[in-house]
Amino acid sequence: MAIDVPALAARQRVAPVDDESARRLAASGLELRLVTTDEERDAWSQSVARGFLDTERNAEQLDAVRERGAHRRPVGVYDTAAPDPHAPVGSVASWVTELTVPGGSTLPTLAISAVTVAATHHRRGIARALVEGELRTAASLGVPLASLTVSESQLYGRYGFGAAVPVTSWRIDNRRAGWLGPDPSGRVDFVSRERFRELAPALHERVRTSVVGEVPVPAGQWDTFAGTRPDAKDAAKTRAVQYTDAAGEVRGLLLYSVEENLVDYARSTATVSLLLAEDREAHAALWRFVLGLDLIGEVRASELAVDEPLRWMIADQRAAHVEVVDHHYVRILDVAAALEARRYGAPGVLALDVTDPLGITGGRWLLRVDDDGRGVVERWPDGDAAPAGATSVTIGVTELAIAYLGGVSLGTLAAAGRVSTSDAARASRVLGWHAAPRLSFRY
Ligand SMILES: CC(C)(COP(=O)(O)OP(=O)(O)OC[C@H]1O[C@@H](n2cnc3c(N)ncnc32)[C@H](O)[C@@H]1OP(=O)(O)O)[C@@H](O)C(=O)NCCC(=O)NCCS
Repeated sequence: MAIDVPALAARQRVAPVDDESARRLAASGLELRLVTTDEERDAWSQSVARGFLDTERNAEQLDAVRERGAHRRPVGVYDTAAPDPHAPVGSVASWVTELTVPGGSTLPTLAISAVTVAATHHRRGIARALVEGELRTAASLGVPLASLTVSESQLYGRYGFGAAVPVTSWRIDNRRAGWLGPDPSGRVDFVSRERFRELAPALHERVRTSVVGEVPVPAGQWDTFAGTRPDAKDAAKTRAVQYTDAAGEVRGLLLYSVEENLVDYARSTATVSLLLAEDREAHAALWRFVLGLDLIGEVRASELAVDEPLRWMIADQRAAHVEVVDHHYVRILDVAAALEARRYGAPGVLALDVTDPLGITGGRWLLRVDDDGRGVVERWPDGDAAPAGATSVTIGVTELAIAYLGGVSLGTLAAAGRVSTSDAARASRVLGWHAAPRLSFRY
């Protein structure tokens, strides 16, 4: 049965904070609570800005944050003995959105951001209480996944998050790259940032449901990308471009900025901040445009898929320096719902024994995948032997999340000693997917 995501999101926004985390924090004289009033939101935003090494927010910025953060559930931790008891010493924000899984279905996910703890209060378990609390609350409401993009990679494995969407970061010597890709028949034009802002949400909505790993861009974040708010940083540096196909439809959008090279002006740098392409022609046209920019010696881009086709569209592969980076982390909150939602790479029966150190999900499950890649999940009672021919997989909830979107093979995880299985090749084929996942932005 399809889940009503807006209704679930509305319930999550106002759900009470988690009892267990509230009790744990109260034992240290700290209060965990939802942030509700505008005044509280502003104080919370100031704490978040400080936590992320940003400047103190002015009134205009606070207005902007309030507006673009309207979809979020902000939670704070307060120290009532502090000189300013209204300024939270810990923060987290979350909202229910949806993640595209292999096969094209989308599944509700708890997106988490703004995890900060004041330097005066860090390393006392506040972040743990915040993250675990929000995960438990979401799981109790029936949200099957959680996800986040991270500033530090070593923080979230302990809560069951796995780096399910590795992406690539590129530096391309565009003078050397050359072009072997197609020569699209549409046109490329500069447009205003306002025009980009107008077109991008609908285009991203069309693109994201066909790309495993994508989530919707929160509405207010488009202004941040496009620099279309008065408080936007360096907005004037951002250039917007559209690709229109031969039939007159806009199929692609690009945002990039340029950094001048003061020593050698003709070797300046162009950084692509977002390239949205609905089809192959739009993708080729926008990359061809960027690689052909005058006065540019290096093109940079990040959050591209591990199997990004650009490598095969340039004539000299050594012109591109490509680095793989962990990017989108996923946490499974309901193993059965997660496994049932996706399609699989090959038929087979997996007998999965999943452990979850936080006790949110896990257990023993049989996943039967038919010839069309459809999976059925049933409980595998304790003490029962695995059915004949089944492949056994003993796996932690973190490792299951890493393999869940098909971006990392189970065989690789077994070779790394993180999973134990009776048949790594079979398990890899079943859980594998033909395209690498991607998430084109950070949230
Ligand atoms: C990262 C941050 C939120 C941690 O908050 P905290 O309250 O000190 O964290 P906790 O005390 O709850 O620690 C939780 C666990 O993470 C570990 N940890 C915390 N900060 C860490 C860091 N910077 N690097 C590595 N491990 C860290 C702790 O050792 C602890 O491990 P354990 O539970 O397995 O013993 C805080 O340092 C911070 O605000 N940093 C700046 C903003 C930021 O990077 N936020 C993360 C956004 S993705």
